[in-house]
Amino acid sequence: MSAGDRQDVMSGAETHLVYPVFPRDTNHYHTLFGGMAMSWMDQAAFICATRWCRRPVVTVHSGAVDFHAPVPEGSIVDLVARVRATGRTSMTIVVEMWVEPMDQFERTLACQGEFVLVALDAQRQPTPVPALPTERVGGDDGVTRATV
Ligand SMILES: CC(C)(COP(=O)(O)OP(=O)(O)OC[C@H]1O[C@@H](n2cnc3c(N)ncnc32)[C@H](O)[C@@H]1OP(=O)(O)O)[C@@H](O)C(=O)NCCC(=O)NCCS
Repeated sequence: MSAGDRQDVMSGAETHLVYPVFPRDTNHYHTLFGGMAMSWMDQAAFICATRWCRRPVVTVHSGAVDFHAPVPEGSIVDLVARVRATGRTSMTIVVEMWVEPMDQFERTLACQGEFVLVALDAQRQPTPVPALPTERVGGDDGVTRATV
């Protein structure tokens, strides 16, 4: 892989999914249903991990998902997913969910969580993924972490 290709991988790995919060996505309080939020976050993590390794990936773990604030019906949500760490075959993806009222420029962090996805080969077995660049490495446990 050339340096230019590598740069493309890096820039492509930060993933945004943007959704309007419509009534079909809410609970009876007219705020975003938590299960829907987690589904969107997992989708963002899935795309981010896929763009990182360009292989089939599956979710093997979701860490704590913290809901900081309710998300009103009629909001815009921007899910931001980034690769935080890579192992041999796994990628840890952090997902933030930012909320914007439709009629205002401000945005607030409503929710964040962490997901671990594994790359699979044609036999559905774990297969290696690209490591994070060395300048972002931390720790000596075989896990490469980004300084985010
Ligand atoms: C993905 C799968 C084939 C991996 O099989 P496995 O026997 O766990 O494989 P390994 O033990 O070699 O683990 C592979 C990697 O996943 C990591 N991993 C596995 N389970 C994990 C968990 N619960 N939490 C965090 N990491 C985990 C391992 O640490 C390893 O990472 P590394 O290679 O970077 O060190 C298997 O777990 C699976 O099919 N799970 C179901 C996935 C799925 O259907 N997800 C839901 C829908 S997408």
